[in-house]
Amino acid sequence: MVCLGNICRSPLAEGIMAHKIKQHQLDWSVDSAGTGAWHVGNLPDSRSIEVAQRHGIDITHQRAKQFETKDFDRYDLILVMDSSNYQNINRLARNDADKKKIDLIMNLAIPGRNVNVPDPYYGEFGFEKVFEMLNQATNAVLEQYAQKNLQHN
Ligand code: 4NP
Repeated sequence: MVCLGNICRSPLAEGIMAHKIKQHQLDWSVDSAGTGAWHVGNLPDSRSIEVAQRHGIDITHQRAKQFETKDFDRYDLILVMDSSNYQNINRLARNDADKKKIDLIMNLAIPGRNVNVPDPYYGEFGFEKVFEMLNQATNAVLEQYAQKNLQHN
């Protein structure tokens, strides 16, 4: 799960996905990172912590880190929040196999539409709305990559 700062959107994406992985006892691992390094080592934004908490998800163990090229080897899927993240990560791809791993996270829920998860950092787009989009997208990840008979919340 990748965004710009790794303090607002991708920590929520990680937290929601981790919650569902645990719920469905899947043998998956999820992590998150930012394309930028400004917030490395920091806790998620307090607004992300709060919205996650309201939905019963604790993300306070997370600390921001920057995406690194080795992450292409560690993960099968690199899900980015917006088209700017997509361009930045695509630039780091070493080959076509790396590039094929990258997708906009909302394309899992709404295929081919290239919908961005808007950056909520400056407050124009709400954190609850971000949570709802990521909840929808992570359900779609489950539907696509886990067994078909999963029950969702
Ligand atoms: P995020 O939000 O990419 O969802 O973590 C942002 C966090 C910090 C900044 C920008 C976006 N920033 O400019 O510091």
